[in-house]
Amino acid sequence: MKFIINGNKKTEGSIRNSGSKNSAVAIIPAAVLAEDDVILRNVPDIHDVTTLIKIIKDIGYEIDFKNNILSIKKRKKINHRIYSDEVGRLRGSYYFMGAFLGKLQEVVIKNCGGCNLGYRPINYHLEGFKKLGAKIVKRPDKIKLSAKNLVGCEIALGFPSVGATINIMLASVKARGATIIKNCAKEPEIIDVGGFLRAMGANISGLGTETIVVSGVEKLNGCDYAITSDRIEAGTYLIIGAMANGSGVTVKNCRPNYLTALIELLRDVGCSVDVGIDSVTVKKEKPLKPFHITTTPYPGFPTDLGPLISVLATQIQGMSTIKETIFSNRFSHVKELQKMGADIIVKNDTIYINGATELAPASLVAADLRGAAALVLAAGMAEGKTVIDNVEVMLRGYEKPVEKLSSLGVDIKLET
Ligand code: EPU
Repeated sequence: MKFIINGNKKTEGSIRNSGSKNSAVAIIPAAVLAEDDVILRNVPDIHDVTTLIKIIKDIGYEIDFKNNILSIKKRKKINHRIYSDEVGRLRGSYYFMGAFLGKLQEVVIKNCGGCNLGYRPINYHLEGFKKLGAKIVKRPDKIKLSAKNLVGCEIALGFPSVGATINIMLASVKARGATIIKNCAKEPEIIDVGGFLRAMGANISGLGTETIVVSGVEKLNGCDYAITSDRIEAGTYLIIGAMANGSGVTVKNCRPNYLTALIELLRDVGCSVDVGIDSVTVKKEKPLKPFHITTTPYPGFPTDLGPLISVLATQIQGMSTIKETIFSNRFSHVKELQKMGADIIVKNDTIYINGATELAPASLVAADLRGAAALVLAAGMAEGKTVIDNVEVMLRGYEKPVEKLSSLGVDIKLET
């Protein structure tokens, strides 16, 4: 699939923020912990969700997904051998490990996938499962996890990993006694997944802090839960507001307090940022100042927005730098931006961008989700027709990007 974008049009207006991808991809697998039906609201209609729906149907659940409401109903027979090829299409499939373990049910699952952002081991997940009492057998293409019982314990993560924090919460919700997870991730998606587990009856405290305590309960009920908004999608559209010619871009239905690091950066470079209760408006003011930023775990500047602000830097006079500390390869978009004439290079873990550049249209290939979104932003700034191939990777995580961008005035078409 390709995007055809005719750039440099007036871009302004407002969009509605969708539900969070990274919450949804954890909450959907977590639903298997419930004894009864689960209803999820504000579920983003994105390819990663479609993929998870296929997997959970294969497992034996009845699904209905309409108007961003997902209902998950259990049928009689549940299949714990998750061999569907879909598993390898996304990272979130690994949450079936923690969720089935938490139910004390053996699970065999193919290796998970996700964007190629460098080496992405799952050692902290597995160490946590083992400490709780799970038996793990690894094969080259799959992994088997089982436990007769799980007992609460103290688990200190070597890094505040989002995935490991969530997977250990899932595995420990019904364990005997208390599990104390130290050095855990504080991302809003952790709070959201924890909120969902609590709505089902789990006993969890410390969400959003460095230490989470999960006290095991006997049973988790079904529930009706609304997923939080996607802070990275919100950030993507706000960065358009920071670059585009127009009266500003407003993102509605968002959580401004989850966007603090981006809002600070945009104010520092010289944009005007208006923050409402559940909306943010960003408008470009001239001249913007170059910036130097390091991506870090929440509440620091999010790695997922690194590629997007590198496009903003191409529009700012002077040298900006973005140091990436979470993933070893978050730079797939850099060589594509070079094709558009950007003065941008990577040295070790840092992107150096020397602006301002009038980006030229080009033929580009997207390699990963946020890299693809960065290319779309760049194409929107280039006068003329840019073609971006392999945009399937962007559709994994952005809901209705063509409709949303078009409503802001971007001339964009999807060619299948
Ligand atoms: N790590 C380990 N061992 C582990 C787990 C993680 O060494 O057992 C390392 C990773 O290799 C990486 C770092 O720790 O260098 C951070 O990994 P983390 O586990 O925090 O990330 P993740 O769970 O794989 C999620 C999001 C990412 C987001 C990161 C950081 C999902 C499905 N993915 O990944 O989202 O960048 O947290 O916030 O929730 C995206 O949406 O584009 C995306 C990549």
